[in-house]
Amino acid sequence: MVLSPRKLSEVLILRDELFITTKVFPGYTPWGSVEKNYDATIATLKRQLQQLQLDYVDLYLIHAPFSALRLEQWSACIELKKSGLVKHIGVANYNAIRLQEILDAGLDSPEANQIEFHPLCAQIDLTQFMNKHAIVPIAYSSLAPLSSWRVEEGQGGETLAETKAQAQIVIRDIANNMGVPEANLLLRWGVQHGYCVLTKSSKPERIRENLNIFDFEISVDDMAQLDALNQNQALAWAANGLNPMEVAPTLV
Ligand SMILES: NC(=O)c1ccc[n+]([C@@H]2O[C@H](COP(=O)([O-])OP(=O)(O)OC[C@H]3O[C@@H](n4cnc5c(N)ncnc54)[C@H](OP(=O)(O)O)[C@@H]3O)[C@@H](O)[C@H]2O)c1
Repeated sequence: MVLSPRKLSEVLILRDELFITTKVFPGYTPWGSVEKNYDATIATLKRQLQQLQLDYVDLYLIHAPFSALRLEQWSACIELKKSGLVKHIGVANYNAIRLQEILDAGLDSPEANQIEFHPLCAQIDLTQFMNKHAIVPIAYSSLAPLSSWRVEEGQGGETLAETKAQAQIVIRDIANNMGVPEANLLLRWGVQHGYCVLTKSSKPERIRENLNIFDFEISVDDMAQLDALNQNQALAWAANGLNPMEVAPTLV
């Protein structure tokens, strides 16, 4: 049966058919944002649940290692998981040193780490570390190498345009040869490296198109060409003038 748009809005979606992730911003002193302690981390999730009108979220992440209280924040995440208010817990923008801090403190390992990951920023050593410790890799900004990425006013996409120029030629050629959109090629590259990819789009047709990555495979040769584009170059936060993986105050 084909449903009309009005009818679609009435279709019942069960909660366990959705996987809902949210994050706690840890605070960042240089931006005037107060660093969250244990209680503030717990309170933040409870407030988010109220705002989302949910009983639980599926994944809760610490947004970045920006706080000297990050181990305390992580302990709060562990408690939130025990309480059932979150099903899984993880971090974002943590490099291997930051992940090792958690392990060295004898705390439960993060289940996932959400990081910038695309051919220009291939995170080779960190990916190996995460695989070794069974930390699920999640890619953000998978489409950052595209010339069309974040080009609207105020989005910061023009930052590092020169850095991307050469890679764009290679990506375009491979996508054209394979007959797939460049965006699909980049998303598939992430999946073939074992990453979960979660690119967002404000356009329904692109959301649909971005799902079409399971009916083709990038050859070994083309993967090698894409892998060779790596410059360890993070782009996503460049407009803010920082790389979130390199910002971590000394622990207190
Ligand atoms: N932890 C972190 O520090 C961090 C940082 C960034 C993002 N994230 C997470 O990652 C999620 C996804 O963000 P993202 O970084 O992947 O998104 P993004 O790079 O901010 O946005 C994706 C961009 O690509 C465009 N796009 C989407 N599909 C396309 C297609 N098929 N062809 C061409 N352009 C396309 C979108 O434009 P249209 O909307 O016009 O389609 C949008 O401008 C976020 O919601 C956030 O939760 C986390």
